[in-house]
Amino acid sequence: MKIPTLSLNDGHVLPSAGLGTYGLRGEEGVASVVSGIEAGYRLLDTALNYENEREVGTAIRESSIPRSEIVLTTKLPGRDHGYDETLASFEESRANLGLDYIDLYLIHWPLPKVDKYLDSWRAMIRLREEGLVRSIGVSNFTQEHLTRLIGETGVAPVVNQIELHPRFTQVGMRDFHANHEIATQSWSPLGAKQEIAADPAIVAIADEHGVTPTQAVLRWHVQLGAVPIPKSGNPLRQKENIDVFGFELTEKEIAAISALESGRLWDGDPNTHEEF
Ligand SMILES: NC(=O)c1ccc[n+]([C@@H]2O[C@H](COP(=O)([O-])OP(=O)(O)OC[C@H]3O[C@@H](n4cnc5c(N)ncnc54)[C@H](OP(=O)(O)O)[C@@H]3O)[C@@H](O)[C@H]2O)c1
Repeated sequence: MKIPTLSLNDGHVLPSAGLGTYGLRGEEGVASVVSGIEAGYRLLDTALNYENEREVGTAIRESSIPRSEIVLTTKLPGRDHGYDETLASFEESRANLGLDYIDLYLIHWPLPKVDKYLDSWRAMIRLREEGLVRSIGVSNFTQEHLTRLIGETGVAPVVNQIELHPRFTQVGMRDFHANHEIATQSWSPLGAKQEIAADPAIVAIADEHGVTPTQAVLRWHVQLGAVPIPKSGNPLRQKENIDVFGFELTEKEIAAISALESGRLWDGDPNTHEEF
């Protein structure tokens, strides 16, 4: 399965769908990430806080795909916000992964009360200038955080990875991203363990196209212009989750899925959520 790409504001490209890896740990985790790569995933999403960077790095080396074809994403945890702290944290991630460079480095959460994300961003600009990171971005940033980041440093993130699924459709953030050439990535695109895809409205749309409800949801992300990063440790479901580029939802179907809006999965409000 060949996954199409989209262009980032720094000239690089990003696969239109990726593999979430939260919870994929140990030998089984390595095997799951290898099977994902072999199935066609070229965008992998990890974080220092997932405590599985070693597994993901090992899987990249064990797979048959050249390193240069993989877009590896990892994230800076809250405890390491600050200029020097970010440089040190990056080295920790790089050592865990066993990679020379990281393709996409994100600030995991903005932590506005700590108020050090600008310092971290400046350190990430330096890492990019030094060639240790290819592209830099953020996660869970609000419009206010993004406006400040761009205003103070003149450098817009290539990506903002945010909670996005049929129950939390993020219309305002997606518009803002489009106006600022920031790509939207969807975390928990299937609603994590909640059975969003089982909703009768989604099942009906899936039946219409002869696809699974999960594929209908992931296709909805793609047509919104967002990059879903579904996590699956199961080789069959991994394949199912990227087999979403051969059919097209109608505007009406997209609107029907977006109408399932009911709010965040948990209290992941970027203004108040603190994760270190
Ligand atoms: N930036 C952030 O703050 C943030 C926050 C949360 C998550 N993330 C990232 O986003 C990724 C995805 O989010 P997530 O892991 O929370 O949730 P998700 O991808 O929405 O859902 C994962 C769950 O769905 C199941 N699943 C996957 N494909 C399926 C299919 N085709 N049919 C039925 N069930 C299926 C998985 O089980 P199986 O594994 O058994 O298939 C797993 O239980 C994470 O892994 C992480 O990389 C980032």
